[in-house]
Amino acid sequence: MQEPIISAKDLWKNYQTGKTEVPVINGINLTLYKGDFTVIMGSSGSGKSTLLYLLSGLEVPSSGEIWLEDKPVHSLDEKMMTLIRREYIGFVFQDFNLVPNLTFLENVLIPAYLVKNDREALQARATELMSKMDILDLKDRLPSEVSGGQQQRCSMARAIINNPRVIMADEPTGNLNSSSSEAVLDILTELNETGQSIVMVTHEVKSACRANRIIFLKDGHIEDELNFDPQINAEEKEIQLLKWLAGKDW
Ligand SMILES: Nc1ncnc2c1ncn2[C@@H]1O[C@H](COP(=O)(O)OP(=O)(O)OP(=O)(O)O)[C@@H](O)[C@H]1O
Ligand SMILES: [Mg+2]
Repeated sequence: MQEPIISAKDLWKNYQTGKTEVPVINGINLTLYKGDFTVIMGSSGSGKSTLLYLLSGLEVPSSGEIWLEDKPVHSLDEKMMTLIRREYIGFVFQDFNLVPNLTFLENVLIPAYLVKNDREALQARATELMSKMDILDLKDRLPSEVSGGQQQRCSMARAIINNPRVIMADEPTGNLNSSSSEAVLDILTELNETGQSIVMVTHEVKSACRANRIIFLKDGHIEDELNFDPQINAEEKEIQLLKWLAGKDW
């Protein structure tokens, strides 16, 4: 029996551009489950990032509900929302979003300092994560002094330092070369294999094959969904996904 971790109910989001309201998310109903690696696909402008931001509480819906387990995010005030978001969500951005004048280690520690102040334990956890991401020897460098792949691994360490229930990643490999992409995806896969729930937006078929479930967005609504058979191998997954995507606009 799958346990829900995030649910969206009749979710709508409009953006105001000048005098016109542009509908971006149009009545989405979606439940994400604990332990899943869910991928969101869809063409540019279909609303993938907006949906991810709404689900993580970084954007406020125009109407509808978002539940993090039993917590109604849509009706919390900003302060409660920030607390809940920290507990639930670790966010990985396409362009890393590291603080340029802080070292790698300091960047990883930012969210942790906001929550707890046992500095020694936090340093130990940051060191352990950075070692796992293979960036520990870069801990005193600034983001501008390392590669994109290394920056993204730092941003992943930052995203998981507080042990969030869900990692959300918006095209985390979009700015990386193929070997760095593989390293980042391997880390996400490994985290998922140890029970971490992951939601990732991607355009890439190979990256999407890391998921067990694919949601396809079109014009701000869910057009289709694919659940991979857990028995099939990576090659078979890719073939199945390509067939499923044929005729879709992505
Ligand atoms: N802050 C904003 N103000 C106005 N319109 C916005 C805003 N953010 C997004 N939009 C519009 O909403 C639509 C969906 O944008 P979104 O970024 O969610 O798409 P996406 O699927 O992530 O696209 P991409 O694949 O290019 O990243 C687009 O038409 C975009 O122009
Ligand atoms: Mg986007």
